[in-house]
Amino acid sequence: MSVPNKKLSLGIFMPNCSNMCSISSHNVVEDQWTFVSNQRIAHLAEQLNFDYLFPVSRWRGFGGDVNYLGTSLETMTWASALLQTTSRIKIFSTVHVPLFHPFVVAKMGATMAHMSGDRWGLNLVSGWSNREFSMMGLKLPEHGEKYQKAAAFIEILQGLWQPQTAPFNYASKWYNVVDGVSLPRPVKLPEVANAGASLDAQRMTARLCDWAFMSLPSIDAANGMVDTMRARADQYHRSIKTAVFPFVLWRDTEDEAQDEIQRIIDKKDSVAAQNWFDDLAIGSESFDFATLDLLTVSGGGIVTAGTAQSVAEQLQSLNDAGVDAVMLTFQNYEKDLKRFAVDVLPILQLMGVV
Ligand SMILES: Cc1cc2nc3c(=O)[nH]c(=O)nc-3n(C[C@H](O)[C@H](O)[C@H](O)COP(=O)(O)O)c2cc1C
Repeated sequence: MSVPNKKLSLGIFMPNCSNMCSISSHNVVEDQWTFVSNQRIAHLAEQLNFDYLFPVSRWRGFGGDVNYLGTSLETMTWASALLQTTSRIKIFSTVHVPLFHPFVVAKMGATMAHMSGDRWGLNLVSGWSNREFSMMGLKLPEHGEKYQKAAAFIEILQGLWQPQTAPFNYASKWYNVVDGVSLPRPVKLPEVANAGASLDAQRMTARLCDWAFMSLPSIDAANGMVDTMRARADQYHRSIKTAVFPFVLWRDTEDEAQDEIQRIIDKKDSVAAQNWFDDLAIGSESFDFATLDLLTVSGGGIVTAGTAQSVAEQLQSLNDAGVDAVMLTFQNYEKDLKRFAVDVLPILQLMGVV
């Protein structure tokens, strides 16, 4: 069901957390998570005409020697600052439903929309790792309820952001809005993404979100999932865009690329990887495909490795599958983004993919 000649939007799944994105001690860029580094990457992405920056929201790392994702920049404040030093690229914040009140997000989001010429977007996530919420004394609801609460959260945002003539009221198990108003309203409705994968998440995303941000085991899996999400959205007479987050690694030969993947796996932080895997097993209803090695290499993104030509072809396949955007991850974001501009981007342009 792909649209012929549709261009693939490029984005970056940003390293606002330490050790993005491999759960490994191989070739770690120690200061990549810092704001200065993120800012350089954002500027580079903007120069290269990328469309999106997406951050990760984490409150605690996954232990092991590397304490995977253990140091991270909070993403509302991060986006607010980055929006000020960029001029065109769209920047999302990733917000945990259990930790923010929709009124706070409505106001902060509208503020960022106003400050940036409507370049801010929201990635709303329900939370899955109890190790971060239990340290705050919070217990995540059971899986279905997490997405009912996320739906209520988005409906309240929509109620507050859309022009209303009457006061906005909303009653639910979690929020009770009486004569609700939040000014300023954004001029354009901010785009809302959800990064869940389960059936509960898919249904909620299809009904209420603009983007489904998906974790998939392979390029082949994208074909089916794009069609599934579109069909689900169609049931609500809506359209939905889809994004995935390929981990791109290329070398002069396929063998060299595979050797580098193997080195990442050989230096796996087994404790952090197991903690991540165990938390996912308890807190999500997805990631059945996840093997420790796949998670280790890409943090759950599609491993897109080979030569520059084959990486470009793999991204082309995602475009052919109907995926609207790829939020790329790299080993060394700054260095690899510069190499990407020289090695891969021209091939994608020649192919007409971007
Ligand atoms: C691309 C992508 C990005 C995600 N980003 C975050 C994040 O920043 N913080 C977080 O707690 N969960 C994040 N998640 C996890 C999801 O929100 C969700 O909890 C997880 O995929 C389990 O899905 P499920 O609840 O539908 O089973 C992300 C997932 C994906 C696929």
